Amino acid sequence: MSILVTGGAGFIGSNFVLDWLGQNKEAVINLDALTYAGNLQNLASLRNSPLHHFVQGDIGDGALVAALLEKHRPRAVVNFAAESHVDRSIVGPEAFIQTNIVGTFRLLEAVRAFWGGLTGSDRETFRFLHVSTDEVYGSLSESDPAFTELHRYEPNSPYSASKAASDHLVRSYHHTYGLPTLTTNCSNNYGPHHFPEKLIPLVIHNALSGKPLPIYGDGRNVRDWLYVTDHCSAIRAVLAGGRLGETYNVGGWNEMTNLEVVHTLCDILDEEQPKTDGTSYRAQITFVKDRPGHDRRYAIDATKIERELGWRPAETFTTGIRKTVRWYLQNPEWVRQVTSGSYREWTAQQYQS
Ligand code: NAD
Ligand code: DAU
Repeated sequence: MSILVTGGAGFIGSNFVLDWLGQNKEAVINLDALTYAGNLQNLASLRNSPLHHFVQGDIGDGALVAALLEKHRPRAVVNFAAESHVDRSIVGPEAFIQTNIVGTFRLLEAVRAFWGGLTGSDRETFRFLHVSTDEVYGSLSESDPAFTELHRYEPNSPYSASKAASDHLVRSYHHTYGLPTLTTNCSNNYGPHHFPEKLIPLVIHNALSGKPLPIYGDGRNVRDWLYVTDHCSAIRAVLAGGRLGETYNVGGWNEMTNLEVVHTLCDILDEEQPKTDGTSYRAQITFVKDRPGHDRRYAIDATKIERELGWRPAETFTTGIRKTVRWYLQNPEWVRQVTSGSYREWTAQQYQS
């Protein structure tokens, strides 16, 4: 038995693969294009594992996906592969359309053909789980109730619009072809392997490098933060027991303004690695130009996944954020290689061998 994971060298995908193989003996076929966001060092501990089969390739390569499905005959596909950074989608949306929409479409087509050839219990138990985001629901005001699964789609960035399109494709493949799909819409993740273009790892890295900590706009935009392994456990729960064709919101019940997040990070760094001049990292906070179309607030109502599948996050923000800061303090080489770009050379070496 095996599962096919796409995008398993990225932030959440690599945590998921490590988590999965830490919990059971079911092999993972890991298909990842290794864009700038894919980093095989995240999976270095699996280098000699017979249960991890890494394949460099694109989810949009229908022939490759079809061949992998035929060869390994996985019982499920978990689709993490995506362009994921909102700011990059504003500067260059094309890659987002290509991977998140066209890529998901091609992946769905290959999976539909494979599933169509299955019979009996293989066909009954097969699952396609699509990993998506709360950003598809758009932006909330301060007093709005949190997003439920019934909230209408109102994506505001090219990134969220491309994810919304992919969600709709997945939905349509269930309704039209009966493909056994599941979709998760999760809030902001944080934890190990988070690429330092995103707020939390960027702030940790800049703080330790003596650089400004850039806060967009007034810093009062609100996000709901979830420790990454809690997202992994939610995906496992949905894969195991989710109702076909359904979507499940996943969140940390933890709304914070960006300023609160950055203050927390500075305070933990002040304790864990105080500056030699005795000043606080908070002094590096700098307000910068706002993100165009910046969504004001996201908040997830994760009642459905708790009611139906008994899932709740194990970490609080207090426990998860300290673990995260410590991980970055203990892994300066990972950060150095990612920020210098040398992880890509390492990947080339690793991949040849
Ligand atoms: P990431 O950018 O860190 O990783 C994406 C991975 O996908 C990389 O390894 C990259 O190489 C790979 N990839 C990109 N294009 C590909 C293609 N065409 N074919 C195969 N592989 C490709 O992203 P992440 O933060 O780990 O997010 C993973 C998924 O979870 C995404 O679908 C994202 O939309 C979703 N999500 C992310 C968050 C978050 O807070 N990061 C929250 C909710 C949902
Ligand atoms: O909500 C889920 C989404 O969370 C995922 O779908 C995305 O893939 C993921 O990147 C994340 O999107 P955000 O835009 O919320 O994350 P980011 O870390 O880029 O920004 C978090 C908040 O911090 C947001 O309000 C913008 C702000 N910000 C971000 C950066 C990079 C800053 O103020 N300064 C910064 O330098």
